[in-house]
Amino acid sequence: MSVSKKSIQEVLETMQIEDVVSEFVSLKKSGPRLKGLCPFHNEKTPSFTVTPSLNMYKCFGCGNGGDAVKFLREHEKFTFIEAIEWLAAKYGITLEKTVYSDEQQLKYKEEESLYIVNKFAQDYFVRQLKETDEGRRIALQYFKERGFRDDIIEKFGLGYTSSEREGLKQVALNQGFKEESLKKLGLISRTSGMDFFRNRVMFPIKSVSGKVIAFAGRIMGNHKKAPKYINSPETEIYIKSKIVYGIYEAKKAIRKEEECLLVEGYTDVISLHQNGIENVVASSGTSLTVEQLQLIKRNTSNLKIIYDGDAAGVNAALRGLDLALEQDLNVKIVMLPDGDDPDSFIKKVGATVFRSFITENADDFIFFKLKLLEKDATDPVKKTEMIKDIINSIGKIPDPLKRNLYTKECAQRLQIDEAILIGEVNKVVKAQVFNRQKEMNRLQRERERKARQAHSTKTGDPSFPPEPPPFFPEGEMPPPDELAGDFAAPKKTEQNPSYFAEKEIVRVLIQHGDKQLLTENMTVAEYVVAQAGEIFDEFEHPVYKEIVLHCRHLVQKGKTVNYKTFSIHEKDSFREIAQELIISKYDMSPNWETKLGITLRTQPVREENFRKDTILEVKKLRLLWLKKIAKQNTERIKNLPKDDADAMLKLLKTQQKINAAITQLSKELNQVIL
Ligand code: GTP
Ligand code: MN
Repeated sequence: MSVSKKSIQEVLETMQIEDVVSEFVSLKKSGPRLKGLCPFHNEKTPSFTVTPSLNMYKCFGCGNGGDAVKFLREHEKFTFIEAIEWLAAKYGITLEKTVYSDEQQLKYKEEESLYIVNKFAQDYFVRQLKETDEGRRIALQYFKERGFRDDIIEKFGLGYTSSEREGLKQVALNQGFKEESLKKLGLISRTSGMDFFRNRVMFPIKSVSGKVIAFAGRIMGNHKKAPKYINSPETEIYIKSKIVYGIYEAKKAIRKEEECLLVEGYTDVISLHQNGIENVVASSGTSLTVEQLQLIKRNTSNLKIIYDGDAAGVNAALRGLDLALEQDLNVKIVMLPDGDDPDSFIKKVGATVFRSFITENADDFIFFKLKLLEKDATDPVKKTEMIKDIINSIGKIPDPLKRNLYTKECAQRLQIDEAILIGEVNKVVKAQVFNRQKEMNRLQRERERKARQAHSTKTGDPSFPPEPPPFFPEGEMPPPDELAGDFAAPKKTEQNPSYFAEKEIVRVLIQHGDKQLLTENMTVAEYVVAQAGEIFDEFEHPVYKEIVLHCRHLVQKGKTVNYKTFSIHEKDSFREIAQELIISKYDMSPNWETKLGITLRTQPVREENFRKDTILEVKKLRLLWLKKIAKQNTERIKNLPKDDADAMLKLLKTQQKINAAITQLSKELNQVIL
């Protein structure tokens, strides 16, 4: 079920930033704002501000800022819908549940039916365990022997399936479930047509929100031939690489403890829960994926991996963990004593000793590697290999401070010259950056190629660029000194130069969209769409593009475009960008001006001169666009066969036109910029 757009809208329009933040942070009034100690970083003097008039919060210490939904997502690690639900409960809004499009509805229905079948199967397995003689005698007995308590069996929804060939199948078909769904979910074997899980105890695997998405069945006792566990196949609702076992039961505790324990087995998770350690999930015997790490990271940045104390455990610990470092997780490793897994160890020593053991023996990942290295220090070949390995791991840590700390410590412990080690780590860092850049360039070229393709299919003309739009009369620019005050708070900016121009257009639309341009007899949004609407399709920044296309759509429908359109839009990216743009323009740090020793005039200048602001930004955008098509045209000329004189002439003429337009526009802009 999803929440209807209308309900989301109602929540977004109702929420008041100060109501929400003050539930978590103690705020004091300070002029038109409220101030408090930032909950996102450590500070002694408050730089965390809440501005009711903008319905936003912003910390000038760490930069975190946004609306109430953003606050809840950051502070409570809620998903969007969880935040909406929390807010709805707070304001007593009843959420109306719906599904969106037909397509979504169909997909949703299919997925929902899979969940329903799984729920049915889950109930069936539980009944088999608790309500049949055989279940009680064999399976419940097995669980008891392993020491599983009733409440834990209940909590994890454990079940049983007998060796009957079509036990589940018959009941399911009788209840009207489709054979195909049962097959798809792997409950019935496609080859034999019989129950897939037979004579096993059953562990339901749940989604983050607690729905049963798959099963694992464990054979009771030890058989040499049959596999210990068998699992449901992957489906739309069960993608192995995206889930960890136990996340639903663990998520609250993970947030509370600010740490996630990772073990290997289903029974390890269950056994730790039974002993009151609930912040634990299992990777289910496979190596970790980026998605699984991100799932964990939504709840905490601290990951402690508990490995079985054997050689396989050590190797598993070293595998795939650079991934965790890349995700900027703080990874610690605990090796259990030889021969124990978490389940057997906690049974042996009890919860108290277990807890102190994993606290005292938690090794930082890098230091864990170091320790192994020190053990092997006599073998020079191995040692070199391990050093390279450590350097590689350190280079993957995104945080430079952390990287630096590790480099220092390693240099000391390995008695290697620090400068050399830094040099080597930097090589890895550079290679990382280089690879990322290469990837970004590739994506960029791909986008450009697609845009060109889209253009030529639209116009049917592979060589001719679109006619540049008409120009403004000169002399409408603001005097140069008014533009000099255009400071934005320093912040990370994107590298792509197009983004700057695109961003300003988005800002103009959001900030002034519904204001009237008297001379032109239209609103700012109408004007921008009329003057630059066709350039919107060529926007490079994906979210800015989405926003301007949405604006164009609104204008075409005769609807209003303004800050409110975006600040309460259901799309997170829309709200975030609106807030970011408005905040960086309006909401300067209170001591910003004294720090710089100047008076910023951003807000009043922008507000009074929205007409100039609009026209200027439209021109900037158009100039950039002209330069782009000039470049494209030059490319075409270069690639043209020498003997195609007609085409050449045509292209050259276009080039002339574009160049003239660029000169003209630059002149207009230079008058104000210089
Ligand atoms: P118990 O032996 O009942 O304590 O289970 P365990 O969870 O401790 O199993 P073990 O430590 O042997 O394996 C860890 C995890 O690897 C399991 O929880 C399973 O997810 C997975 N696993 C182990 N054996 C098999 C198998 O035969 N097939 C599959 N598909 N997975 C397995
Ligand atoms: Mn075990």
